[in-house]
Amino acid sequence: MAIKLGVLISGSGSNLQALIDNIEAGTLDATIEVVISSRADAYGLKRAEAAGIQTLTLSRELYDDPFTADEVIASTLAAREVDYVIMAGYMRMVHDPILRAFPNRVVNLHPALLPSFKGAHGIQEAFDYGVKLTGITVHFADDRYDCGPIIAQRAVAIEEGMTVEQLEERIHAVEHELYPEVIQWLAEGRVSVDEHGHVHVA
Ligand code: GRF
Repeated sequence: MAIKLGVLISGSGSNLQALIDNIEAGTLDATIEVVISSRADAYGLKRAEAAGIQTLTLSRELYDDPFTADEVIASTLAAREVDYVIMAGYMRMVHDPILRAFPNRVVNLHPALLPSFKGAHGIQEAFDYGVKLTGITVHFADDRYDCGPIIAQRAVAIEEGMTVEQLEERIHAVEHELYPEVIQWLAEGRVSVDEHGHVHVA
């Protein structure tokens, strides 16, 4: 049976688009019940509307108290009976109201190989550091920034002469493949977390 997703965005929403495309193509057995944005100008809202998905934009003032914002998000997601909360370029942390309502059911995508290069500039920082290998991490979110049980990682090599723009393009292309794939594993019920906080994929 298709799983129900709630997607949190703040920006371009290209990963949201990858989910929409995979659902339409039949490679992701899911429905997107609602897209919630922390910004009114997020282009991802247009993508959601074009796909006929309901949207909700939270005002900047609501985030003055992040817990209040997360109460609103959690109750919106619960009312739509979502199974998983998918962070797709959502530039805020999730807090207790969401994490409590969706334990090990909030998924984040990070454009680096965690635990390296946490934070909002993972691609640039990996590039500036001069690592030869970076990549993408999909993990369950917890109350720490870019932490929580790792579900999947995929490496991207930084080749000689590559610019940061080329690296970004490559990272995003791999994200658009990996994220829908991992969410399909969730739909198939193949993902579990053990007592050590380690994820197993059957
Ligand atoms: C992605 O690179 C993701 O890893 C990071 O934010 C970016 C979102 O891009 N968390 P988009 O909004 O999905 O296009």
